[in-house]
Amino acid sequence: MQERLKELQTEALEKVSQSANLKELNDIRVSYLGKKGPITEVLKGMGKLSAEERPMMGALANEVRDAITSGIEEKQKHLEEAAVHEKLAAETIDVTLPGRPVKTGNHHPLTRIIEEIEDLFIGMGYTVAEGPEVEKDYYNFEALNLPKDHPARDMQDSFYITEETLLRTQTSPVQARTMEKHDGKGPVKIICPGKVFRRDNDDATHSHQFMQIEGLVVGENIRMTDLKGTLEVFAKKLFGEDREIRMRPSFFPFTEPSVEVDVSCFKCGGKGCNICKKTGWIEILGSGMVHPNVLEMSGFDSKKYSGFAFGMGVERIAMLKYGVEDIRHFYTNDVRFLNNFQVHE
Ligand code: DAH
Repeated sequence: MQERLKELQTEALEKVSQSANLKELNDIRVSYLGKKGPITEVLKGMGKLSAEERPMMGALANEVRDAITSGIEEKQKHLEEAAVHEKLAAETIDVTLPGRPVKTGNHHPLTRIIEEIEDLFIGMGYTVAEGPEVEKDYYNFEALNLPKDHPARDMQDSFYITEETLLRTQTSPVQARTMEKHDGKGPVKIICPGKVFRRDNDDATHSHQFMQIEGLVVGENIRMTDLKGTLEVFAKKLFGEDREIRMRPSFFPFTEPSVEVDVSCFKCGGKGCNICKKTGWIEILGSGMVHPNVLEMSGFDSKKYSGFAFGMGVERIAMLKYGVEDIRHFYTNDVRFLNNFQVHE
């Protein structure tokens, strides 16, 4: 019996050392140490032994069981460690491989122009104002000196929602809203970028929705020369240091006098080319001195205060600056177009 136990121990430990995975190891545990295993079997025969032999045999059986158990445990630890190593090895990342390029988005060209213009005016002490896109007829027209039957309303075909509300046709209503908030007290210095809407048929130069930037300055002793100086700085910043501007008389109901502002052609420098249509000048915005009626309607004393205002189409500026020939490119979001404006900062 003693020998049989020793044999079992050697045999079991041999198998343990050869087992290749946790399942095999568990099978060995069950077959040697389980209730139906050979050790239990041997112990069952203890009844036949003499009283002296029994305790010795019992002790030996326990020894054999312990030896097998600890052999299994040790092997189990090994196998588990090996499994972890194998998993780690399989998951290793090769940091020397070249990375996959990450495609980054970039600002839309119109956003870029707007931010550039905002920065410029903020630098001159302006703040950025906003107003609603669904606007009251009052702010869009009446408060800007365009009463209900005024013929100049025809210049801006409008999307009406009700008799009294429409999609704003210009950012100029923000002038009236801002002045109202100032309660008759200057100075006011704002620019207002935003979407505007007109009942136009879309083509290369027209869009039923586009962006404008409005500017308004109200204070004591604000003069036409202030307007000219401001717009000169603006034109040089946006189109190049050598640019000059000129003012041509024009008409807007909310300014008096009104002017249209041209910048000297940045392509030919004034000699005449296809961009400036051989004139050497390119029209970039409308402006003028705020009409006394407009000041008064929004609560400013027109004897004490004066002001200037201007308004420009952002798409037009962007088309000139970037040489874009069709306004619809800005709204179709074709990445081939947008990628032209990728900046690598
Ligand atoms: N709102 C005008 C337009 O859409 C542009 C404009 C002209 C705005 C003169 C002004 C201005 O503030 O003074 O055609």
